[in-house]
Amino acid sequence: MRILITAGPTREPIDPVRYISNRSSGKMGYSIAEAALENGHEVILIAGPVNWAAPAVSEFISVESAREMYDAVAERITGCDAAVFCAAVSDYRVAKVAPEKIKKTGDHLTLVLEKTEDILGSCRSVFRFKGVLMGFAAETGNLIANAKDKLTRKGCDFIVANDVSRKDIGFDQDQNEVIIFGADGTHKALPIEEKRVIGKELVKRLEAAHQNR
Ligand code: C5P
Repeated sequence: MRILITAGPTREPIDPVRYISNRSSGKMGYSIAEAALENGHEVILIAGPVNWAAPAVSEFISVESAREMYDAVAERITGCDAAVFCAAVSDYRVAKVAPEKIKKTGDHLTLVLEKTEDILGSCRSVFRFKGVLMGFAAETGNLIANAKDKLTRKGCDFIVANDVSRKDIGFDQDQNEVIIFGADGTHKALPIEEKRVIGKELVKRLEAAHQNR
């Protein structure tokens, strides 16, 4: 298969030196990329700013903002057999980026934010992607309801849900504990595991879904 994977956080600029971002390390997405490579797949990895060396993928694209990630996906998703959206994309960006560093003046500073592009949500509706689609749901509450809602709303074959309110798993940790929700109504909770091991399991799911198409 040719598999497109997004990984890591995005950075949304506030002014020339500041940005809005999140705690995503990119470990989960990179683990999936490595597992896919091990199984002989062609991998396109689109990553926000992370501290890892890129694995030996067919194409590696480094991006910063949600808009850049959207453009990189839009350009490459056609012709892919599967796509995994593991990136923690910022949902909002600063509406008017200041051209100069913002000075400390008043006691309060208000930033007006606007929505970013929903990349995963554009796959079916805008990019007309027909391949196997796997999204992630990072939640701090109502894990199951939110994951199921994302599954249908975004037209995914799978949503991989994890609870990011826990300190021992998820963001910036080596381990994760996920529940895989399938479009067929099934769900499977995997035991807490190294992200490397979870990556292999997720690639297996992609392979099976691709074969059943
Ligand atoms: O942030 P949220 O939990 O809603 O993300 C759900 C899924 O949507 C993830 O797979 C994430 O990579 C993707 N996403 C995206 N573009 C966004 C926000 C989220 O592709 N702007």
